[in-house]
Amino acid sequence: HENLKSFPNDFLWGAASAAYQVEGAWNVDGKEKSIWDTFVRVPGKTFKGTNGDVAVDHYHRYKEDVQLMAEMGMKTYRFSVAWTRIFPHGKGEVNQEGIDFYNHLIDELRKHYIEPILTIYHWDLPQALQDAYGGWESKQIVEDFQNYSISLFKAFGDRVKYWVSLNEQNIFTRLGYQTAMHPPGEKDDKLYYQVNHHASLANAAAIKAFRKYVPDGKIGPSFAYSPAYAKTSKPEDVLAADNAEEFTSHWWMDVYAWGEYPQVAWNYLTRNGIAPRIEKEDLELLKAGKPDFMGINYYQTTTYEKNPLNGVTLDGHFNTTGEKGTMEDTGLPGVYKTVTNDNLERTNWDWNIDPQGLRIGIRRVTNRYQLPILISENGLGEYDKVEDDDSIQDDYRIEYIRTHLKAIQEAITDGAEMIGYCVWSFTDLLSWLNGYQKRYGLVYVNQHEEGEHDLRRIRKKSFYWYKDVIASNGENL
Ligand code: BG6
Repeated sequence: HENLKSFPNDFLWGAASAAYQVEGAWNVDGKEKSIWDTFVRVPGKTFKGTNGDVAVDHYHRYKEDVQLMAEMGMKTYRFSVAWTRIFPHGKGEVNQEGIDFYNHLIDELRKHYIEPILTIYHWDLPQALQDAYGGWESKQIVEDFQNYSISLFKAFGDRVKYWVSLNEQNIFTRLGYQTAMHPPGEKDDKLYYQVNHHASLANAAAIKAFRKYVPDGKIGPSFAYSPAYAKTSKPEDVLAADNAEEFTSHWWMDVYAWGEYPQVAWNYLTRNGIAPRIEKEDLELLKAGKPDFMGINYYQTTTYEKNPLNGVTLDGHFNTTGEKGTMEDTGLPGVYKTVTNDNLERTNWDWNIDPQGLRIGIRRVTNRYQLPILISENGLGEYDKVEDDDSIQDDYRIEYIRTHLKAIQEAITDGAEMIGYCVWSFTDLLSWLNGYQKRYGLVYVNQHEEGEHDLRRIRKKSFYWYKDVIASNGENL
């Protein structure tokens, strides 16, 4: 591969996590409930009723975890802040104990020369705001999110230079307001688009404030991008894939990058009476809060074909096939329909494995937005087995990460500007709906839905492999 360009010298090799999925300590040091603390207690919502009360106890073991990161030579660690630690009720007085925890974590990282990437919001909305005004359903969230963000900028902006505003707005709104698989468990298309508008405004308001408080920092959203493929070269399938790209990607990324909604989708939603209500000053705000980079969480591509208008109501279209938690949906009548791609292998959770799709996605984002890209998540969720000698031979994970890194190197050779790459995840963690059986970590954590769980950390084979990749700056792929 002598024709491939090298990874840049300052490429941020890293891994990621989210507060609810790793921290545990759900009700200590002043923390109050988030909507996830409530949701997981509703019977039947998560695999075997798992919750994040303890998770992998990162709150108490962060030093041990950072030590492992340092040993691996990690250049960056992406983590999220639990809003309910900073403002237990979403607003009001800052809870100093919450600030202290993240100060300790950030200082520990920096002591080991690991660049912190701080995610402001990874889905754990304060329950108090949900109760007070429906959370994202009300425009009031914009001000509260901006104030929360400013508190973080003031507390950590001197040491944290990379920030992610919202994690996967497209996923938390779809699962929260279309499939009802995440809190608050609604199925309402009109509300879904309104919620998205508020979230986009909140995103822009935070970024706008960021310029004042952390002028030398960089900030962007993390978008769950699943590039659209056409099932065949029939023009109607190609059009369906174009439609899908518009409705499932541009709807967010155009707003982030340009402060504008894409036309085709906007007109369709207006015709169907479900476009969001927008005020004039909203558009000004959207344009005033543009990101420095596009964060991309990439797991798979999605394939589409023509969807005949067959009288299906607009209600309930994004039907998740559910059981294994796949991201597939059936589509939008008359617009596109999701189909299986027979050219791709799939994981045990039926997620497509498609490294080339990452190169394709990076190209599309680069061409359309001309922004640097941070791969803020990419990884493989699988069953792992601890061998008798306490090793974990996760060659399947190594292969997944290796091929995706190769795709990034090809994208760099194509001309894309890449900031870094965060494996999802550093340690094993709680999968929102799938408990602990679906593992993503480079470090195994002995945590289970049932039975023995002493939470001890074990380096997987992928840990040693990734260490070597980092040490060689990607030469040894
Ligand atoms: C992303 C999220 O959507 O996918 C993570 O940002 C999540 O928080 C990851 O864990 C994997 O999803 P799952 O359902 O396999 O845990």
